[in-house]
Amino acid sequence: MTAMTKTEAAVTLRKKPELMSVEDAKALDTARMAELFKAHLNPGQFHFMKLLGFHKIKVERAEGMYYIDQNGRKILDFFGGFGSLAFGHNHPRILAARKRFQEEKRHEIAIAFMSQYATALAHNLAACSPGGLDMVFLGSSGSEAMEAAVKLAERAAGPKRSRIVYAENSFHGKTKGVLAVTDGKLYRGEFQLTDNTVRVPFGDIEAVENAFRSDPGIGAIVLETIQGGGGIVEAAPEFWRKLRALCDRYGVLWVADEVQCGYGRTGRFYAFEHYGVVPDITALAKSLGAGKAAIGAMIARRDVYMKAYGTPKTAMIHAMATFGGIGEACITAIEGLNVLYEEGLMENAETTGAYLIERLEALREKYPRIIKEVRGRGCMVGLEFHDFSQTLPAVLRPMVAVLDEKLKGSLSGFVGALLLRDHDVLVAFTEYNRNVIRLEPPLIARREHVDAFIAALDAVLARGVAAIVKDFVKSQMG
Ligand SMILES: Cc1ncc(COP(=O)(O)O)c(C=O)c1O
Repeated sequence: MTAMTKTEAAVTLRKKPELMSVEDAKALDTARMAELFKAHLNPGQFHFMKLLGFHKIKVERAEGMYYIDQNGRKILDFFGGFGSLAFGHNHPRILAARKRFQEEKRHEIAIAFMSQYATALAHNLAACSPGGLDMVFLGSSGSEAMEAAVKLAERAAGPKRSRIVYAENSFHGKTKGVLAVTDGKLYRGEFQLTDNTVRVPFGDIEAVENAFRSDPGIGAIVLETIQGGGGIVEAAPEFWRKLRALCDRYGVLWVADEVQCGYGRTGRFYAFEHYGVVPDITALAKSLGAGKAAIGAMIARRDVYMKAYGTPKTAMIHAMATFGGIGEACITAIEGLNVLYEEGLMENAETTGAYLIERLEALREKYPRIIKEVRGRGCMVGLEFHDFSQTLPAVLRPMVAVLDEKLKGSLSGFVGALLLRDHDVLVAFTEYNRNVIRLEPPLIARREHVDAFIAALDAVLARGVAAIVKDFVKSQMG
């Protein structure tokens, strides 16, 4: 056995170990944060942060569309926490509601008594949802909401119909249950996952029908309405109408994952509303917490819910966990929903998003050899670059070969790193398709933010692929 460290010895003696205070935490510099991140959080992840230049940034404040770093530099946020920041950072109404709640010494844990906050939030979510989606389960994340959705579907469908259809390139979370319906090889690793699943290509109605027809054991289908992790991929509108009809014909429950695409991001509260159909079960998270709280919700049709958990005997099978319906998270979400409607953020998402897409299309025309496709709806936009691994000048290939495996054929990492370094703009990358930059700005974004973003992107692309690659590689050497 190795000797105890000073901290371990102090712990055994019940003496206070050397702990950092909140003020100590605020005062950490990037070098010390890097040490602690590597020592205690995720050493491998640090590699990627360094590659993209993110490790040099310490965010001191965040407000509206911007992060503000240790040097007072304002970074325009077109990443938006993968759709978590509908209201931008620290919206004043959200802050004020939380402050009042704390000052009034309101209660948090909601598992003994009924909570006025959880019940009001459930009411609001039902009011925002069409088609009898009335029953709500509250959790702390998108994964937990999706776990609840898949469990509900399985119980409502019954033991003879426990098979679940999911889509290629899907992402529904990293907890073990929903990992079985998440299509990422990286995330699935070599975990032992439940094998009651059937995978179909996304948006392929014939494949869905074949599966339903040939396997009466199928009781549910789980789909993101717009695939986020897959690189902002939409199915044709007819797909959804036919899917609804097929689900009705075969008695299959449709679970719509709206964790990323929901909450007004595409201009409607739920993305499925664009197609005039309603699923049996859905899930929200991310922006539901208004950028301040960890909260997710499953929302289900009442008859489906009652079938699974509707009696005193079955009610506790999947009742809310310790932090489900916690007070401050609920009032944050309640205030958020009110702000979403009162500030017209869905309308803004639609018009600002359309303007963003229009400006990106103009850039695609200007740089047809660099930009392959622009796609999306509202403030959920994908920008796909051509794979340059084959077209890169031969002299540059050895340079790129020294880079991380994942960056080799993809321009998005290089462009993203230069947007941050030279233009103070943050964008997101896509695990499943390394050529796609995801743009999910807050729904408060205005034309001037789009103009600033487009000017930055234009300036980076104007350098040309060879210069972008050279510049990036040079920054890695320095
Ligand atoms: C569509 C979708 N579902 C589920 C999740 C999981 O959410 P969380 O990270 O809050 O667990 C995500 C997260 O990115 C998502 O995009």
